[in-house]
Amino acid sequence: MSAPSAGSRLFRRKPVSAMVEETGAEQADGGVLARRMGVGQLMGLGIGATIGTGIFFVLTTAVPEAGPAVVVSFVLAAVTAGFTALCYAELASTIPVAGSSYSYAYATLGEVVAYAVGWCLVLEYAVSSAAVSVGWSEYLNELLDDTIGVRIPDALSFAPGDGGLVNLPAIVLVTLCALLLVRGASESARANAVMVVLKIAVLLFFAVIALTAFDAGNLTPFAPLGAAGVGVAASSIFFSFIGLDAVSTAGEEVRDPRRTLPRAIIGSLVVVTVVYLLVAVAAVGAQAAGVFEGQEAGLAVILEDVTGSRWPAVVLSAGAVVSIFSVTLVTMYGQTRILFAMSRDGLIPSLFARVDRRTLTPVRGTVAVAVFVGVLAGFVPLDALVDLTSMGTLVAFAVVSVGVVVLRRRSPDLPRGFRVPGYPVVPVLSVAFCAYLIWGLSNETYLFFLLWLALAALVYVTYARTHSRLRDPR
Ligand code: ALA
Repeated sequence: MSAPSAGSRLFRRKPVSAMVEETGAEQADGGVLARRMGVGQLMGLGIGATIGTGIFFVLTTAVPEAGPAVVVSFVLAAVTAGFTALCYAELASTIPVAGSSYSYAYATLGEVVAYAVGWCLVLEYAVSSAAVSVGWSEYLNELLDDTIGVRIPDALSFAPGDGGLVNLPAIVLVTLCALLLVRGASESARANAVMVVLKIAVLLFFAVIALTAFDAGNLTPFAPLGAAGVGVAASSIFFSFIGLDAVSTAGEEVRDPRRTLPRAIIGSLVVVTVVYLLVAVAAVGAQAAGVFEGQEAGLAVILEDVTGSRWPAVVLSAGAVVSIFSVTLVTMYGQTRILFAMSRDGLIPSLFARVDRRTLTPVRGTVAVAVFVGVLAGFVPLDALVDLTSMGTLVAFAVVSVGVVVLRRRSPDLPRGFRVPGYPVVPVLSVAFCAYLIWGLSNETYLFFLLWLALAALVYVTYARTHSRLRDPR
């Protein structure tokens, strides 16, 4: 047999059967990832990673763009997220392994695409964990100020480029999340579940209070800037829906994954959409559209105006602190599981695939992720990097949607616990929506992204290509 060409090596695919066989296998250090989570805990992961910073801020930018029709923008963003969620649900039910879109790309589009997706996921998970923990630090300071009248000094709560020396609260948050994660996936999922209940309760608390001041007059004119405004607002709202895919990183730690994964992805989408719509309807009903622009902590201001007292706003800040904690927890969890899958495939060092025998978690990989995220959060001003998160996420989403089509054509008979309805229209629309949102990103983001991919290519050529465990091209 002739040796595989360099081109065919780049696009060698990992068979789905090999991926499924590897799950539950003992790893270095003697542990395995254990199937312990059920649909409830998994939905908690999806909601935990999704409801976070976005909903607490987005109305102040989205309402000026769309007017009260921001409610329609939420529906549009939910539909976009829904198309992608359906594609994730099909692949997760067909390839129920750790690694999310990285693993799906390896099975469908080949090694080099999977490797690039793995690097995109570092932007979606590790970089966004750092960015989100910086936001947490700000909310924590607000809360401390409101409750006990103390603020952490700027030198200790901002990164050097932002006017401080170190963002200590962000580092503390990352450390707390890492400590929880190394105790065990189930333990983390339980702690996350408590935080998810709290954050949903706080947002419902907001909606109920704001609805008491509902005034239909606030809804006219409904869409002052027309359909274009509604579309622009949907793009910014999309950020609030990022996170549902985190469910699929837990593919090797759930019971009955072919049924559980799709249910949890779709269930989380439904819960998140209902909560967001309630918040949006309540907010635009309680406050005239013209007042939202430039409002800091907009939801808190509405509560203060409606009730005439300060304590509901304090409850809301506390809710934001809890919400952002669980987003950081789940995104760090997702990052460790994606690196676990890449490491098991030999594409990154074996450190990330070592599973501790006692806690059944990748302890060393978790520590490495925490150090990386902690350094970014503590010392790097992250504003410039936030759009890179959207870029990485959207590219991964598009690859997953293409992957559904590829796998249906190549392996139509694989057992699928869930099939995308409206195939092939839904995956095609999913790619189109992702492309549309990528189109809107800045040239600077494109440049950073290309540099990031160039770095990935360099590491691929010098390390991953020769260490890959997959020898035979398919
Ligand atoms: N969807 C997540 C949030 O809004 C990223 O914080």
